[in-house]
Amino acid sequence: MTKFKYIHHACFILSHDEDSIIFDPFLDGNPQGLTAADIKVSHVLVSHAHGDHLGSAYEIAKNNKAMLISTAEIAGDAAANGCQSHAMHLGGSYKFPFGRVKIIPAFHGSGIAGGHACGFLVDFYGTSVYFAGDTSLFGDMKLLGELEKIDYAVLPIGDNFTMGPADAAKAVELLDVTKVIPVHYNTWPVIEQDPLVFKKLVESNGLSQVFVVKPGEELEL
Ligand code: NI
Ligand code: MN
Repeated sequence: MTKFKYIHHACFILSHDEDSIIFDPFLDGNPQGLTAADIKVSHVLVSHAHGDHLGSAYEIAKNNKAMLISTAEIAGDAAANGCQSHAMHLGGSYKFPFGRVKIIPAFHGSGIAGGHACGFLVDFYGTSVYFAGDTSLFGDMKLLGELEKIDYAVLPIGDNFTMGPADAAKAVELLDVTKVIPVHYNTWPVIEQDPLVFKKLVESNGLSQVFVVKPGEELEL
């Protein structure tokens, strides 16, 4: 059974049987009160180095002897900080024990010198999940949707720093995806959104389904 567990903000865990991987492990203020010591994972994926994404990545990677997967600049910094890391970059893909990861561009700051923000297309035990990271809407999402079969898109909807609900709804159309999970909203007042408004907007096409997963909740994929 493959599950999506939402921690909060842009942090979530994908798990399949005994294997778990975590994305953008920013734990500060998570309503479950989780700390780095609570997280048991085999891999840590980091989309960019802003604090609300890099978060506790190094501590979690070290605690678990987990592989940190990110762009080269972050992977290099992780290695310099004592983590095992796997450096990748935009457009590249690599097969890990859980499945293939492809690095997708994101239009956003990298948070590290010389870097570039990214998203991830992950084939996790046969389920294809696109996590956009922090990004604006961009037209090449249409190309991505043409080239790849995406089962679930995990998209930011908070606005201010990333796409807001209207642009994220357009992203769903471009990606040609039918199952969508919104993230990166309601962490702070500046990114306050009603996910049910987004859900209504997306589902009005009669094709797509939005799963509003609350922090601490799980969704079976
Ligand atoms: Ni950011
Ligand atoms: Mn962010």
